[in-house]
Amino acid sequence: MCGIVGYVGQRKAVDVVLDGLRRLEYRGYDSAGVALVADGTLGLAKKAGKLANLEASLDEAGLPESTCGIGHTRWATHGVPSDRNAHPHLSADGGVALIHNGIIENFGQLRGELEAEGLHFVSETDTEVAAQLLGREYAIDGDLTEAMTRVCARLEGAFTLLAVAADDPDTVVGARRNSPLVVGVGEGEYFLASDVAAFIAYTTEAIELGQDRIVTITREGLSVRDFHGNPSEGRPYSVDWDLTAAEKGGYETFMRKEINEQPTAVADTLRGRIDGSGQIVLDEVRMSDQDFRDIDKVFIIACGTSYHAGLVTKYAIEHWTRIPCEVELASEFRYRDPVLDRSTLVIAISQSGETMDTLMALRHAKDQKARVLSISNTVGSTIPRESDAVLYTRAGIEVAVASTKAFLTQLAACYLVGLHLAQIRGIMYADEVKAVLDELVATPDKINMLLKDMEPVRDLARASAEFGRVLFIGRHVGYPVALEGALKLKELAYIHAEGFAAGELKHGPISLIEAGTPVIAIVPSPRGRSLLHDKILSNIQEVKARGAKVIAVCEAGDDITGVHADHVIETPASPTLLAPLLTAVPLQEFAAELATALGRDIDQPRNLAKSVTVE
Ligand code: AGP
Repeated sequence: MCGIVGYVGQRKAVDVVLDGLRRLEYRGYDSAGVALVADGTLGLAKKAGKLANLEASLDEAGLPESTCGIGHTRWATHGVPSDRNAHPHLSADGGVALIHNGIIENFGQLRGELEAEGLHFVSETDTEVAAQLLGREYAIDGDLTEAMTRVCARLEGAFTLLAVAADDPDTVVGARRNSPLVVGVGEGEYFLASDVAAFIAYTTEAIELGQDRIVTITREGLSVRDFHGNPSEGRPYSVDWDLTAAEKGGYETFMRKEINEQPTAVADTLRGRIDGSGQIVLDEVRMSDQDFRDIDKVFIIACGTSYHAGLVTKYAIEHWTRIPCEVELASEFRYRDPVLDRSTLVIAISQSGETMDTLMALRHAKDQKARVLSISNTVGSTIPRESDAVLYTRAGIEVAVASTKAFLTQLAACYLVGLHLAQIRGIMYADEVKAVLDELVATPDKINMLLKDMEPVRDLARASAEFGRVLFIGRHVGYPVALEGALKLKELAYIHAEGFAAGELKHGPISLIEAGTPVIAIVPSPRGRSLLHDKILSNIQEVKARGAKVIAVCEAGDDITGVHADHVIETPASPTLLAPLLTAVPLQEFAAELATALGRDIDQPRNLAKSVTVE
């Protein structure tokens, strides 16, 4: 959600900034803009729509030759996507340009105050308030860092801000509260960006900034301070993936590439995570073994696909540890007064580590003294930083808006956490844990096998495209997989898709079935809980009796399901609890193919942002 890039160095700033924005496109946006400064001049270009529109307007904009600038891709919150509302925004005298990610909650009050002073606003955005305030403060002493510090003291809400001033052409000043901002450190050049993908082509050296920080970059160096003006420092780290990870590598889309990266991503997430005594190794732990033993309740908080990973985890945690586990949408969690205390473990799952709903739920949990363990794919992001313990997934950068490898790696990490809890609390014997781990470690090869035979899934997807609606049903861990299959299809194909607990159909949703309605049924292994298997076969009969066309995702060799369904998609055999690592994969491919058949942009679906940094 909103991409932010700032640069100062020796290169042509316009090239670096546009390149960075292109690499942040995956975050989702509907307009884009740049501001460049050189020799007392500030040049601005901004356009609604994709980056191509902005690039086409650059000649006409007459931007100065510059080695210092800022750029922005905007995901509209306040004000429609338009040239006028696109960032950067200017101060009243045109001397300062500012870009913003987040929401300034007191913008109405600040705007009223500035208008009363006679300032005129040209956009409907909350951001323009910060630009106008910054211009006013900068006029006092001509120090952009000091001015930004005073502005931040007035703002409420979440924000990353970057600003440049016409008469300070070698400086970019940034600020962050609850929104992402990282620093890239090159030789004689510095970058500021929403995430490292923006500057990975130039440097792998980065600095993580704490909460409520102001950072100033010039060609000579950088300085960090807190919102009170006290000197501070960031945490340097090296990014361990390179440019090729952020490119398509021969695939037509990032989503297809990421689906096919899943065997490696899951294997990487498991690798080296079990020590000699069978304990899992968390990346950052500020909790003792005793803390883990004292836990008497688990809450999982997450959004979207990560929430679905949490739903699967509930089955595993309750089965393996016998600790009660609740799963809650992060956006609902803190508004319903959940009962938490020191012996509650909250597991926050977030690929980006920046999802505002999840972050706010995490903070609510910490306020109630609960312990928080996060599962994230983004080292140095806010959610892991604010957690008591962290287990990073190792999916590598996920560019496509629709999560695929993030989902599978979250499942793998969650299984590890469940087994860790079971072992540390003495609920499972070491050999029982090892038996599950052996199955887990065998899964990447099975995903690989599955991916080799996707053509029948694609055929079924294309054949279902004309219907305009697909329903998904499942039981037990198949239910969250059904929800995930439906989410993928909705977000990519823009058609009605819904996931149901198969047993619930007869309580209402079965009335949606008409002749030819495609229904995808996630069938559990007949070798697992055979009762579950029998029950879903009954549900398949129920929808077939009403005209549905049933596609069953079932275990290879499950001949009984083949008799009842119209089509089967076979997955390799797996223990019941681990099956989602396999059954989710054909649903991802199904959604990608059906959406492609409808001409959709599967990497950047309309209206969506990869990282949702507003509540
Ligand atoms: C699903 O395909 C989406 N990308 C979305 O539901 C996502 O999972 C959700 O916004 C949560 O993101 P997070 O994992 O980065 O917190």
